[in-house]
Amino acid sequence: MSDIKRRDFIKGAVASVVTAGIFSAPNASAQVFCNADKIKWDETLDTVIIGSGFAGLTAACHSKLNGADPVIFEKRALVGGNSVLSTAWLNAAETTVQRDKFGIMDDSHELHYQDTMKGGDFKNDPAMVKKLTDEVTNSVEWLKSIGAPFPKVIFMGGAVKKRAHAVSNEYGGGLVKLLYNQTKELKIPLRKKTNVLDFVIVEDKDGIKEMQGLYVDQNGKKKYVRVKRAVIVATGGFGGSAEMVERYDPSLKGYATTNFTDASTGEAMVAAMDKGADTAGINYIQIHPTLSRTESGKGNILITEGLRGTGFILINNQCKRFVMDLDRRDVVSAAILQQPQKYAILIGSQETYEGKVADYIKLGLAFEANTLQELAQKVKLDPAALVEVISEYNGYVKAGKDPQFNRRDLTKPILTAPFYAIPVQPAIHHTMGGLRINTEGQVVDVHGNIIKRMYAAGEVTGGIHGTNRLGGNAVADCLTFGRLAAQRAAKEKA
Ligand code: FUM
Repeated sequence: MSDIKRRDFIKGAVASVVTAGIFSAPNASAQVFCNADKIKWDETLDTVIIGSGFAGLTAACHSKLNGADPVIFEKRALVGGNSVLSTAWLNAAETTVQRDKFGIMDDSHELHYQDTMKGGDFKNDPAMVKKLTDEVTNSVEWLKSIGAPFPKVIFMGGAVKKRAHAVSNEYGGGLVKLLYNQTKELKIPLRKKTNVLDFVIVEDKDGIKEMQGLYVDQNGKKKYVRVKRAVIVATGGFGGSAEMVERYDPSLKGYATTNFTDASTGEAMVAAMDKGADTAGINYIQIHPTLSRTESGKGNILITEGLRGTGFILINNQCKRFVMDLDRRDVVSAAILQQPQKYAILIGSQETYEGKVADYIKLGLAFEANTLQELAQKVKLDPAALVEVISEYNGYVKAGKDPQFNRRDLTKPILTAPFYAIPVQPAIHHTMGGLRINTEGQVVDVHGNIIKRMYAAGEVTGGIHGTNRLGGNAVADCLTFGRLAAQRAAKEKA
């Protein structure tokens, strides 16, 4: 076959993987280019980071800091991917922020490890969790060194200590801005509207695979990019694709999502699977208990678990508490779905206020009032029943014991106006499963061998969170494995 014909054949093969491969059975149509030397490369780069969310931007910084020459490919016209929607709580123990700023002396890597394993029903990969919980402390210190102010540390569901660090008062957008500015300071190029359609991977006679480069669509122009050192896949999860969610968990058909539907779409993960990459936990998809709930059903966004972390409580539309507010997400979601009309209402006050509430009010998702009776009318609750449940709860706070649900962090009553109410419902949030990686961020194939020069970090990977990720552990994962993958990738010979 002539070079030209061979190249056309390869292009045809790539196209069929991208279109048909997305919904093919995992690993069933593995296509490995054994003759990549026949590809006519359009350009050559040292290192490519795919995705500009928390994991991608972090990987880019540490790639450059460790002597590589990375370029970021972002498929959208905007920087940040789904990370801009995040609330950016970051779980870490034994940090200088916890200890020196907030006097939290009794947390440990071990407790963080235990909470994470327990939260994931022990289906997590223990070595990955150990690496995460040990190393995330360094991720916090690095963020501090580039200017993160860390204004607060709160409880999140499933955690026995206050270890969810707010990186800034600007949530996900603030962290994307901080990381993006760092990439600009390090002069790392970022190409928008550059979509990776496929991976070019060769296999030697012993079946060992090696990344050679990428087939991309850059602003409508298709091309082959040879990558000399390494590719780091940081494309996020697939919670924005209703089709993929249904494919991996048919029981979730019809749920709303907290994700951008054009960002967390999973096609890079599927392309890697088609080339023989292994996956871990692919059927574990998380439902977050508190997406906002509007009468029109439009404009719904994630209402942060941080509200419960600072003292809001959940009631049903009969004004009854029904769950330990800070329990694991799957437990709280399941409890909400058992309530009449399958929704709940978050109730708070001046004492339990969290900065995000102001945004929710502006968006028309949260209601504010000077009395509980007035608040009840705004969200169609029985005023007397609302006063009763809040007075009962305040009694528990005063006594320091919640005989109904044994709530942790019983420190703040719901006593002083303004009072707040936010109707909420469960929605698809996070995909725990994805590409299998080792503790250095190297992608592993279905035979258990690493795919040389191929790395991944963040929500595109699987195995760390088991069946159920704890709030605050995704940002921890992105920042930590983004850094570790980049550090290891920088050691590859270019
Ligand atoms: O509820 C939240 O703020 C979400 C946090 C997370 O998914 O880590």
